[in-house]
Amino acid sequence: MCGIFGIVSEDEQHLGPTLIEAGHRLSYRGYDSVGCATIDSQGKIDLRKNAGKVDTVAKELNFEEMTGIRGMLQLRWATFGEPSQINSQPHLDSDGKMVGAHNGNVVNNVELREAFLAEGMTVRSTNDGESCVHAVERYVRKGMDMVTAIRHAYNDLQGDYAFVIARADEDCMYAFKKGSGLVAGIAEDAVVISSDLPSVLPLTRKIMRIEDGEIITFWHDHLELHDITGRLIEREPELIKETMEAAQKGGYAHFMEKEIHEEPKVAEELLNLLDGSADVEPMLERMRDARNLYFVGCGTSYNACMMGSVYFSRLTGRAAIPVLAPQFIAQFAPALGPDDVGIFVSQSGETKDVLNAIEVAKDKGASIFSLVNVIGSTLTKVSEYHLPMGCGYEISVPATKTFTNQVIAFLYLAMRMGGQDTSALRELPDLMDKTIRTSLPQIATIEERIKDWESLYCLGYGLSYPMALEGALKIKEITYAHCEGMLSTEFKHGPLAAVTDGYPIIFTVAPEDVPIILSGINEVTCRGGWAIAIGEDDQRLRANAHDVITIPPSTPEIAALLTVLPLQLLSYRMSLQRGFDPDFPRNLSKTLTVD
Ligand code: AGP
Repeated sequence: MCGIFGIVSEDEQHLGPTLIEAGHRLSYRGYDSVGCATIDSQGKIDLRKNAGKVDTVAKELNFEEMTGIRGMLQLRWATFGEPSQINSQPHLDSDGKMVGAHNGNVVNNVELREAFLAEGMTVRSTNDGESCVHAVERYVRKGMDMVTAIRHAYNDLQGDYAFVIARADEDCMYAFKKGSGLVAGIAEDAVVISSDLPSVLPLTRKIMRIEDGEIITFWHDHLELHDITGRLIEREPELIKETMEAAQKGGYAHFMEKEIHEEPKVAEELLNLLDGSADVEPMLERMRDARNLYFVGCGTSYNACMMGSVYFSRLTGRAAIPVLAPQFIAQFAPALGPDDVGIFVSQSGETKDVLNAIEVAKDKGASIFSLVNVIGSTLTKVSEYHLPMGCGYEISVPATKTFTNQVIAFLYLAMRMGGQDTSALRELPDLMDKTIRTSLPQIATIEERIKDWESLYCLGYGLSYPMALEGALKIKEITYAHCEGMLSTEFKHGPLAAVTDGYPIIFTVAPEDVPIILSGINEVTCRGGWAIAIGEDDQRLRANAHDVITIPPSTPEIAALLTVLPLQLLSYRMSLQRGFDPDFPRNLSKTLTVD
């Protein structure tokens, strides 16, 4: 949540376009407000910020014309303080001689603000980013140099965050981090810092990852790293070889559309990775011997855990407990022990809820394994074994390709543990490709029919139940309609009362569950509901549902997975029909580093 970017360049120049470009790349992290500050060679700070998305605010405040030697940008996903001009970042210190911005959450913000006011500082907003600036100001006022002041501020600021700050009367900038991502890039004529790698790569491939508790001081031609005790750290930069193609839309209208179409390709890459992984076997060994097996995640990653649990039970005869990360702590912490294994699932590898759960599991001596997409993320570092999902960048806030790869990884592990030949999965990418191609025309009439409904359901049973949950999450996330995912047999126990003429109910169907789904379909159609089934071509479905979106024939486990693809596409189309931007749904952020 929230994104920051900072640059120190060789000469005074138009920094506006560079800052706007960084804003575009970081905008998946938050788009409640945006702000830029530049500092010229005379130490004059130009600060412009407002609530709204990058393009709107950049145009309104003419970011383009902003010049300077140093510059910073912040995009906000609001936590402390409503999205407004005053709460937008960057923030100034009391005298307007320092400027800074953060991403993350300073949880003692309210207490700090009171303390700063009592100490005579000027506090202008309720936003915790401003507290980071005053936390440094507090020690600069006592005569400390910036690095020492930041070290002290670090002790005062509770929470997880990354922060950039500059003094008007110097020629460098500072950044530090605790819990949130921060990466530096060393270009020919500038040094930059950012919350993520994709916003650095267009400028340079020479990067340095900043660790928790480290303070970076950067000038246009070099940088220094200090640890929290003030000790100088020596670290060589890394050279990144990945291309940036993955972070572009590549001819698609939205990242979400592109990322759905990438699913077959990244599935194939994942299968290659898993076949070549030396970690799979030791992981399986430990899982075989585990007392309890937990699959832990949030949101879409949790839905993948649900699917993993179904696969494990069917294919290995072992029960695995799928659980939302905060509930894992609340419910299972007392029962955890050293013989337990947790597989923690996260696209970003930075979700705070998941990292909190790991901390608890570690304390109890449980084994920590993970399925993670972002390499180098905190999750990869705290896991004993991590399996990379191989999806490349997923920019769109709604997770799509990472979900299918998480599910495939679980299926692969379950097959291996159950002694099955995983080469059967090699047909999966083709089946996915076929599903995407054939479902698009089938969806066209359905999206028209359901696009204006403010409420709908997605029902599944057995193997396809987790897919119904995931489909419902996608629909509510990007169409803003209320869509509940549910076990089909539960519908009659209450929600059936919502059904009126034409009320849409989508059923995900694995081949073996057709008979029970038919009961669900008829219970709603006889009350005027409009039933849409997603499953393999089946005369019984055609005879009972109003619409059927067919998927190609395969095994029951694969069929269940394929049902989510039409749901991803349908939610995407419905979002467009309703006039929304599916890549950046309101109120959301791709990476949630707060509790
Ligand atoms: C998915 O579409 C959502 N954006 C969200 O539920 C997401 O899956 C969740 O926040 C977990 O993120 P993670 O996989 O990065 O941990």
